Amino acid sequence: MEKLFKIVKDSKKSLREKSKPVLLPLSDEIKNLGLDMLNYLKLSQDENFLKAHPNVRSGVGLAAPQIGKNIQLIAISIEYLNSSNKSIKEDLVLVNPKIIEESAKKCYLSSGEGCLSVDKPHQGYVYRSYKIKVKAFSLLDNKEVEFIATGYKAIVLQHEIDHLNGILFYDRINVFNPFNKLADSIEL
Ligand code: NI
Repeated sequence: MEKLFKIVKDSKKSLREKSKPVLLPLSDEIKNLGLDMLNYLKLSQDENFLKAHPNVRSGVGLAAPQIGKNIQLIAISIEYLNSSNKSIKEDLVLVNPKIIEESAKKCYLSSGEGCLSVDKPHQGYVYRSYKIKVKAFSLLDNKEVEFIATGYKAIVLQHEIDHLNGILFYDRINVFNPFNKLADSIEL
């Protein structure tokens, strides 16, 4: 039986609060919540499921504050091209994720970003670090992990980790010049 979360929208103050760290070792409740969040994303990417559930929007990332829990837990389900142009599908469920290093080099999505909690479109470029190093407890690996992410994967991670700090993607759009081109940044 799939779990259909009610997504907290950006009109709610709780989405602007900082999330609390999750205690380790993980409780079964947190484990199940993380897996349910990942499953929700996978369902949201399924055409037939979307047809049957017109209120559900397709997403690649979900942070616990978006389902009404202000704890440091995120899920990501993405597909992207790696450096040798091979399509990679990747699922991540991360507890207490921290960006411990980031490149000065920036990147952005040419189409801008979207968010399950934001219904109104916000046009403009969202600049993110092109390369980041993340430290977290990986729920799917059941251990502490440290890894480097670049490009699209780095963008999605930064978007979700922002949620844990009460930050939404449109906070990062230049209000005076939303399509401002930063020198030396990479368009994706
Ligand atoms: Ni979001």
